[in-house]
Amino acid sequence: MTKECHGIQGAGLRRSHIDQGIHITTTTLGITLATLAVFTFVLQTSAHPQCLDFQPPFKPTSHLEFCSHYDTFGCCDQDADSTIAERYWDLMDSISHEEYVRCGDVVKDIMCQECSPYAAHLFDAENPYTPVREIPGLCFAYCEEFHTKCGFIIKHLTDSRVLQEASDRGSITFCSLTDLPDRDYCYPNVLQNNYLSNNLGKVTEDPMGCLQLCLTEVANGLRNPVLMLHSGDDTHRMFVAEQVGFVWVYLRDGSRVEQPFLDLSGEVFTTPWLGDERGFLGMAFHPRYRDNGLFYIYYSIMVQGSVERIRISEMRVSTHDMNRADHNSERVILEIDEPAANHNGGQLLFGLDGYLYIFTGDGGKAGDPFGKFGNAQNKSALLGKVLRIDIDGSSTNKTPYRIPPDNPFIGERDARPEVYAYGVRNMWRCSVDRGDPVNRYGRGRIICGDVGQNRFEEVDIIVKGGNYGWRAKEGFECFDIKLCHNSSMSEYCY
Ligand SMILES: *[C@@H]1O[C@H](CO)[C@@H](O)[C@H](O)[C@H]1NC(C)=O
Ligand SMILES: *[C@@H]1O[C@H](CO)[C@@H](O)[C@H](O)[C@H]1NC(C)=O
Repeated sequence: MTKECHGIQGAGLRRSHIDQGIHITTTTLGITLATLAVFTFVLQTSAHPQCLDFQPPFKPTSHLEFCSHYDTFGCCDQDADSTIAERYWDLMDSISHEEYVRCGDVVKDIMCQECSPYAAHLFDAENPYTPVREIPGLCFAYCEEFHTKCGFIIKHLTDSRVLQEASDRGSITFCSLTDLPDRDYCYPNVLQNNYLSNNLGKVTEDPMGCLQLCLTEVANGLRNPVLMLHSGDDTHRMFVAEQVGFVWVYLRDGSRVEQPFLDLSGEVFTTPWLGDERGFLGMAFHPRYRDNGLFYIYYSIMVQGSVERIRISEMRVSTHDMNRADHNSERVILEIDEPAANHNGGQLLFGLDGYLYIFTGDGGKAGDPFGKFGNAQNKSALLGKVLRIDIDGSSTNKTPYRIPPDNPFIGERDARPEVYAYGVRNMWRCSVDRGDPVNRYGRGRIICGDVGQNRFEEVDIIVKGGNYGWRAKEGFECFDIKLCHNSSMSEYCY
């Protein structure tokens, strides 16, 4: 059986964009905003032009004499353009007239790629493992032709021994070095790709004057708000939870109901110190909330003054006030000991299958140090996992939930039957894909951010039985070398 593995990388999305996206939600319970805001996107394209210095491309203030192709929009001002021109003419001085006639134009095109609005992509500048390339990424066919016709010029074009030696060995060797993992961005494809080039340099404003990404304040005066959700019952209310254990109701007109929906501040364990990852962390409404009034919460508790746990509970809305929870209705579903204060996970959600998904952290500290190879790779532990349970029935062995009959590790000795996916470090925010509005593609996928240790943040698509690598791997890179190369790990996805 081959396991399906999913991660998002490539396809025009480069690592650092992903990092930025995730930092918003994950870094040590990153929402320190006292204000909740709603994003509006205006830009219709999500192509990502960027210069070698990671600045956005721009319209040069004065004409570019040399790389005139990038005169209206690109990464070179006049100084940069003159510098390239000087280098070019020096180079041309060192070759024969016949060679100049043959190769002058193509060398100019290649040298001017520093001015391309996609220079950062062309030079693969965001990949920490390739020192910024000396030659831009060239599409294979173009490169082969260039190398065959003008290969002699490469020793003038770059000081890189690696490139020069590759060039001596022939087109195929050389061109596999200058190739880019993302074919859309190699030269000259990048120019011919309509999606990448159509809206370059355009500034699009919506009727309110919003450029690209705008924020509208919807609530303020909150203390560490950690989530905002609706109850799916067409009442158009928003529920906003604070880490300290309050849930507030915002009505359709934006006003806030004076009394909290839920006050668990007495039960929730956290401190006011910046960086405390414990607290009220998650909440999900039952898919049939409208009929049964049930919802689920995920929070930290302290037991007998010394043991820290996370608790997942069911609660019910009050029978006489739709904006109040019935505090006495709490039914504990699951408690898990937390060996350290950090990495408490915290997402709860219902899949389209109607099951409750619970996302736990690896138990904390650094490097998932617990047990022989950490919690996340240990299927007997509930930490570092995506768990899936059937909340609509209690089982015979007195757990207040049932195990879905197709959970992936039911048949595996020592594995907890709740485990749906593993190798997780600290997924604490996830969502369910609503799918393409037209063809519904992607509908129901669960997509999570997983907080990295030091080097890589992840965005993962959760699949049944999936192994997301931690602590054998962080992102696509080995983290624990021994575990990563353990043959019993090599069957795994990352
Ligand atoms: C796996 O986790 C279980 C439950 O926490 C623990 O009892 C066991 O010792 C762990 N196994 C290893 C090999 O660390
Ligand atoms: C490899 O992983 C398995 C569990 O997946 C474990 O039992 C075994 O001890 C590991 N071997 C090494 C060398 O770490």
